[in-house]
Amino acid sequence: MTSCNDNTQVLFNGRPVHYWRECPVHGKVPASYVGVYGDIWPIDECPKCKEQRLMEERLNGSMIPKRFRNKTLDNFQVTEKFQQFVKTIAQDYVADLENNIANGVSLVFLGPCGTGKTHLACGIAHEAISRGRTALFVSVSTLIRKVRASWGTKTEEETLKVFTDCDFLILDEVGIQAGTENERNILFDVLNTRYADMRPTIVISNLKLVELTNYLGTRIIDRLSENGGQVVPFKGAKSFRQGAKA
Ligand SMILES: Nc1ncnc2c1ncn2[C@@H]1O[C@H](COP(=O)(O)OP(=O)(O)OP(=O)(O)O)[C@@H](O)[C@H]1O
Ligand SMILES: [Mg+2]
Ligand SMILES: [Zn+2]
Repeated sequence: MTSCNDNTQVLFNGRPVHYWRECPVHGKVPASYVGVYGDIWPIDECPKCKEQRLMEERLNGSMIPKRFRNKTLDNFQVTEKFQQFVKTIAQDYVADLENNIANGVSLVFLGPCGTGKTHLACGIAHEAISRGRTALFVSVSTLIRKVRASWGTKTEEETLKVFTDCDFLILDEVGIQAGTENERNILFDVLNTRYADMRPTIVISNLKLVELTNYLGTRIIDRLSENGGQVVPFKGAKSFRQGAKA
């Protein structure tokens, strides 16, 4: 790159850059640009710092647990056959993310403990967030707790709105509790509303497909599989937590 002022062919948001400055982190970055009428506009914050800051804010707002903040598709390792299978499904999903979000294409991740279900789901959410989408992570127990905590101050619908409205939702640990009628109704409300609005959800569970179908009902499972939605079995020889990596 060249010095200030002689670099009008380099673009910032489609407009020629006017001046450059040094960001301590990113080096040479645009400091101002030329507007459509030849007017000069300052760029207050390093664009790369700004992008990182916004990503950080959206990640903070996503409720993805700290442990899973840095879990991505890239750092999902493949040492077993099933890992290649599930990773490819996640990569394909992300490759067509805009369509999958627009068409509400959901995924169901099933399998034993420690096989990477939460990791891979958070990896997809990470990708959605980096493309400016809103994604939320919630376990069923947290979801139920939030609804209970707001009883008397908000309607259930108001409390659930944040979970029904986000572009992308991860619903983790489905079927861990026996599930009272009220708890199941909360789950149905979230899943049915998202289905009706064509918004995708990743449902994660340790249950087998038949058990999950008994738990949620055939209708919900059918809806989660609509439009190319898939039930994805994670079948590991050992839990990753116990060192299956070796
Ligand atoms: N293929 C993998 N590559 C890298 N790390 C992995 C992989 N699979 C699992 N892990 C790591 O192992 C730990 C457990 O994985 P994770 O929590 O995603 O499992 P899970 O299937 O959601 O288990 P559970 O059903 O108990 O919730 C995490 O720290 C995760 O990042
Ligand atoms: Mg998990
Ligand atoms: Zn910077």
